[in-house]
Amino acid sequence: MVYSNLNINLSVAKIGVFDSGYGGLTVLQSLVEKLPQYDFVYLGDNARAPYGDKSFETVYQYTLQAVNWLFDVQNCDLVILACNTASAKALRQIQQVDLPQREDSKRVLGVIRPTTEIIGNFTKTGHIGVVGTAGTIKSNSYAIEMERFFPGIQVHQEACPIWVHLVENRFVGLPGTDYFVKYHLDHLFGQFPQIDTLLLACTHYPLLMSSIQKNVNENIAVISQGGIVANSLNSYLQRHPEIEQKLSKQGSRLFFTTEKFNDFNQLATLFYGDDVIAERVIL
Ligand code: DGL
Repeated sequence: MVYSNLNINLSVAKIGVFDSGYGGLTVLQSLVEKLPQYDFVYLGDNARAPYGDKSFETVYQYTLQAVNWLFDVQNCDLVILACNTASAKALRQIQQVDLPQREDSKRVLGVIRPTTEIIGNFTKTGHIGVVGTAGTIKSNSYAIEMERFFPGIQVHQEACPIWVHLVENRFVGLPGTDYFVKYHLDHLFGQFPQIDTLLLACTHYPLLMSSIQKNVNENIAVISQGGIVANSLNSYLQRHPEIEQKLSKQGSRLFFTTEKFNDFNQLATLFYGDDVIAERVIL
């Protein structure tokens, strides 16, 4: 039998992007810009967000449910945890315990490692400020990973628990929001004026960018993770052709939320910068 004229398409796997809510859209936006050919499925667990103040066990369970849904229902082969809290609290356990129990070769990647691999290049003073959720900051993941890649650089961390609530509750761009943004930035920079680089170590925070920039000195570099994660995924796929070849390339984007999709669509469209029509899913 001659197969050469048959169009056998074995590339059917998609890339899943997961966050507790809206924040991962800031990463998805950079991913589709850098890698437009791939098919992406976005899942926001808005019904249970924020994750930032939840226990290790809860964040792990929620994240695992989401990852399994992206694997098994959406046929994703690769899932990006576009969430620092989930990356800090659930990624290691999923990679070391859950994935080896599967018979397939699914992968899960986080956002902390790619960020800490390069963030040290941005600072001249050797002092980096890291703002994140209580969960991310308490895990100390950024300080630990930075020590591996950039020993000697000082990491100064500030948990900003209310910032994700402001985003999830649609308080973006309102005057009251500035108060809480300024409160945490003043607290951080008041203690560590040597900081010249501020890392937004929560994927929700770029949605507060204008307020953040207004409240830091103009020569501070404010770094968000979208571009960093997109570059890192690009080089990961180049290093892993066995995964890359299985990914479908129709340029499609699907959106799912665990909350009411009408509310999600409205804000997601604003954050993502393009039309978002989501479906509701119960995990
Ligand atoms: N966007 C998330 C992060 O990067 C989680 C925020 C939350 O749910 O508290 O940490």
